[in-house]
Amino acid sequence: MIELAPELSIERLDVGELFGRNAPLHVDLGCGDGSFLCELAKQFPEKNFLGIERLSKRVEKARRKAEKIENVRVLRADTSDAVRYLVPENSVETFYLLFPDPWPKRRHQRRRIFTRDFLDSGAAALEHDGLLRVATDQLDYSQQMKRLSRAHPQFEIVDPGDVALPSTKFERKFQEQGASIHRLTLRKVSPVK
Ligand SMILES: C[S@@+](CC[C@H](N)C(=O)[O-])C[C@H]1O[C@@H](n2cnc3c(N)ncnc32)[C@H](O)[C@@H]1O
Repeated sequence: MIELAPELSIERLDVGELFGRNAPLHVDLGCGDGSFLCELAKQFPEKNFLGIERLSKRVEKARRKAEKIENVRVLRADTSDAVRYLVPENSVETFYLLFPDPWPKRRHQRRRIFTRDFLDSGAAALEHDGLLRVATDQLDYSQQMKRLSRAHPQFEIVDPGDVALPSTKFERKFQEQGASIHRLTLRKVSPVK
């Protein structure tokens, strides 16, 4: 976790150095055990895949899975900090925020990751036309995400397109339970002047 002090200046990641090459960057926020990240990286060897996860045991699991895949890196960090302070501006082709912690109780909802601030930093980190792909099993969270997205000048809600993404571990779990899955794809656009 990054400890932020007012006098501390944090350098953004040198993504080229981290991967040993320059390539379109995809970032999986809260990547859990890394299964989705690694499957996707194998599907698209020409792109770089970065996983962000705050729990060290999950980071270790994801790193073990990623060991033999050249285009995957996993960082232990907080999602909001990583998007805001670590990822370079205009550098990300696609963010994935798949089944973020739902915090269903009303008094806990302010802990949810998807906020106006998150969208502001996401917009700064995305390339023009870059995508933010989101999924949740919580209807009210998805409605909240849609409201925030519609109110944001740098995002538009778009059709997800013809992509067959691998399932994530939590997606499989929710599907087994028969839960509905709510998906949202946002595209970064220029703010209207
Ligand atoms: C419900 S799980 C989903 C994991 C994976 N995306 C999937 O769909 O299988 C949420 C994951 O996000 C991680 N997480 C929650 N809040 C986070 C934060 N602020 N920063 C980084 N990771 C976070 C959790 O530790 C957990 O691994």
